Amino acid sequence: MRHFLIILINMVFVANLTGQSVWQAPDSANHLKNPLSVDDVTIARGQKIYQSLCQSCHGADGTGDPVMIKSLNPPPADLTSIQVQQQTDGAIFWKISEGRGLMASYKSMISEEDRWAVVNYIRSLKKESVKNKNEKNSNKANVNRQEVDAFGFSQLINAKTTYIRDGKGFGFSIQHRFGATKFDKGFVQNFMGLDLAANVRFSFEIPVSKRLMFEIGRTRFGKFYDLGGKYLFVKQTADGSIPLSIALYENVAITTENAPQYSNTATFENGYLFEYKFYHRLYYDTQIIVSRKFSDRFSAQIAGQLVWRNLTPYSIKPKEDSYVIAVPVSMRYKLGFKSAVDFEIMPNTQHRNFPISLGYEVASSGNHVFQITITNSDRILSQNLLFYPTIKYPEDGFMLGFNLIRYF
Ligand code: HEC
Repeated sequence: MRHFLIILINMVFVANLTGQSVWQAPDSANHLKNPLSVDDVTIARGQKIYQSLCQSCHGADGTGDPVMIKSLNPPPADLTSIQVQQQTDGAIFWKISEGRGLMASYKSMISEEDRWAVVNYIRSLKKESVKNKNEKNSNKANVNRQEVDAFGFSQLINAKTTYIRDGKGFGFSIQHRFGATKFDKGFVQNFMGLDLAANVRFSFEIPVSKRLMFEIGRTRFGKFYDLGGKYLFVKQTADGSIPLSIALYENVAITTENAPQYSNTATFENGYLFEYKFYHRLYYDTQIIVSRKFSDRFSAQIAGQLVWRNLTPYSIKPKEDSYVIAVPVSMRYKLGFKSAVDFEIMPNTQHRNFPISLGYEVASSGNHVFQITITNSDRILSQNLLFYPTIKYPEDGFMLGFNLIRYF
């Protein structure tokens, strides 16, 4: 009987302890990786959910609703506190998922990705509170030094952007360009050009770190395999102390098409008789890309680009250039939370009509974007796009296409 009493007292005591004790996530939670990048889009997404499901208890600024603090025991946690903010993303994610006591489990109510978005939003609360409370200057500096991305994906329509995925997972993209179409009977007959020969590029991108990524691609037209690398050496910050992002991009493409058939008297520029060698298959693309996010809605970039090809026979008319210099300009204007319009123009030394592209983009999350494009060329890879003539509008019509990018 005495033993039983001790056990009973113990149980009550222990139960009481867990009710009041610090809420600790299991160590395994600390190893959970946040799959989302921290940017305006994911934070805004988390904020929406927070406002509808969490704000009633945790308050608009995350410090706790004054009425709820008085009436709940334990009170809703101050999400801006050091005690919460020092926890890993994984621990906060785990607590939202599992819940405890009056704090419900949100596993079944909020999708996994959305719970991570809420974590990102909770992180941004710290910054607000730190700013408001005017805490230590060093903290403030850290907050303002936050880096920003002008674009959320590593390519816009055809142009490469300064964006590099945070060294996590990998990306997959499909770029598709259909045949030229006009608003005539062919528009219906050829289903907006979708029936005509289409160009397509598949590519994988592998981020190595926050500053370095590689990509590997295959394009139908020209039967090109390409290998690219991008290094971001300057990144824009939120406080404007660094106003721009600057990246270096290099891509080598190799055509696997059969050797071109020239007459047996054709020569190279140096006068030697034409003979197809392996290095004639190589095409290079070098770019310095400078981007800037001007506002939450508007971002733009400009690049200096040199595209080079090794094959330039001399006695072929018209004589072809071995290089093109281009100054591509790209812009994005966000229409809303998920959608944006994109525009690209690529002034260069080769074309009379510069390649122009227009896109409508829907990004369903920070991991996935779908774009419908209108272009005046069905070429995708710069090494092909900048050497190949564009079509004329309105005589030749326009080309529809789409881009699909997904990060895993
Ligand atoms: C009914 C009021 C209520 C709602 C709604 C609510 N919470 Fe809580 N939350 C609490 C309480 C109470 C605690 C403290 C629980 C404890 O310590 O046992 C808490 C604790 C937490 C913690 C843990 C903090 C720590 O101490 O480590 C996090 C994170 C959190 N809530 C996030 C959220 C999020 C995100 C939502 C919305 C999806 C949410 N809460 C909705 C009441 C609420």
